[in-house]
Amino acid sequence: MRRRSAMSEVVLEKVSRNFGNFAAVADVDLRVNQGEFVTLLGPSGCGKTTTLRMVAGLEPNSGGRISIGSEVVSDAGRGIFVPPERRRLGMVFQSYAIWPHMSVFENVAYPLRVRRRPNAEIQEAVTRTLRLVEMERFADRPAPALSGGQQQRVAIARALVFEPKVLLLDEPLSNLDAKLRLQMGDEFRAIQKRLGMTTLYVTHDQSEAMALSDRVVVMDRGRIQQIGAPEEIYRYPASRTVAAFFGTPNLLDAEVRACARIDGRRVRLDVVGQGWAGRCEASHEARPGQAVTVMVRPEDARIASAGSDAGDQELSWSGRIAHSTFRGATRSIVVQTDNGQLNVDMSAFDAHAIGDNVNVVVSQRAAWAVPRGDVTA
Ligand SMILES: Nc1ncnc2c1ncn2[C@@H]1O[C@H](COP(=O)(O)OP(=O)(O)O)[C@@H](O)[C@H]1O
Ligand SMILES: [Mg+2]
Repeated sequence: MRRRSAMSEVVLEKVSRNFGNFAAVADVDLRVNQGEFVTLLGPSGCGKTTTLRMVAGLEPNSGGRISIGSEVVSDAGRGIFVPPERRRLGMVFQSYAIWPHMSVFENVAYPLRVRRRPNAEIQEAVTRTLRLVEMERFADRPAPALSGGQQQRVAIARALVFEPKVLLLDEPLSNLDAKLRLQMGDEFRAIQKRLGMTTLYVTHDQSEAMALSDRVVVMDRGRIQQIGAPEEIYRYPASRTVAAFFGTPNLLDAEVRACARIDGRRVRLDVVGQGWAGRCEASHEARPGQAVTVMVRPEDARIASAGSDAGDQELSWSGRIAHSTFRGATRSIVVQTDNGQLNVDMSAFDAHAIGDNVNVVVSQRAAWAVPRGDVTA
């Protein structure tokens, strides 16, 4: 059992891919552990698909080494390249790519027929896999007579039917409407957990990445920016680029006055901005005078009446309400302060009038500083 479990981790070492002299993927180091669900997340064009295609063997890597389990499947330096069909990977892509001239059963059976498995085995494996995705009663349907969500299940079944060591998925839910996307995401995650498949998933959708993944890999312009559990990346981004990628955070310029260690992972900074001062947290010690960007998430901020005192564990800015947008679940407020606008998300029931003078208040624990000067798009 131990041997088998060690067999399906995916390791990328200094993997890169150049198109001419453009580096689509640069120096990617990543380990996806056995049974782990890891998501590559980043804006369009950042190199997610190219990375996945290199793992699949659909694209050669210009540099570096890729291993699946104990086997090196691609090593640019040593000229090793194992073709896709010998990597034992299941793949699901954005377009379902199920074959319209075949029934659901035959679509799912296809990978086994290509592998020349005996009929009895095919019958058993296809039935079992269709049951897993709750599509067994559609086995005889022509594939086009299915809804988008059903087609997607067939595509997933086809990827699972030969029990791949590793599953690769490239934006598999992006063609579905919002509700189905949530439902299919949750279902797929449950199947993945049950079968313990090592999964490398690609999406540009932050909330999908956070809901599904054990760990998220944030990419930008071909490079890994940060790897971590969803909450860690969201609450403790390592850079301004990563902070800005999730939602619409407030990013405030400030200068460090003092620094004290809280624990092994975090420090507390005294910072001064334009017309405000207070404390926040950060991952690294900073020197007095150092420039930082302080991130405040809109949902962590609240509106208080003008002139009210902030607690000593809080940061506060005074301003005037400039916009208010009802979004159903929340209301987004924009407060104009002396040094820029602040976004605050609040309960949709809390009404504030445009033009009201207010304070924006946030706990210093929810204010997170990252180094300034890190280049952003
Ligand atoms: N075959 C190719 N030839 C030239 N450039 C490519 C090729 N494939 C991808 N690229 C470029 O590489 C970059 C990364 O592409 P891709 O991996 O598809 O990004 P993502 O999936 O994150 O949107 C993009 O700038 C894209 O235009
Ligand atoms: Mg892509």
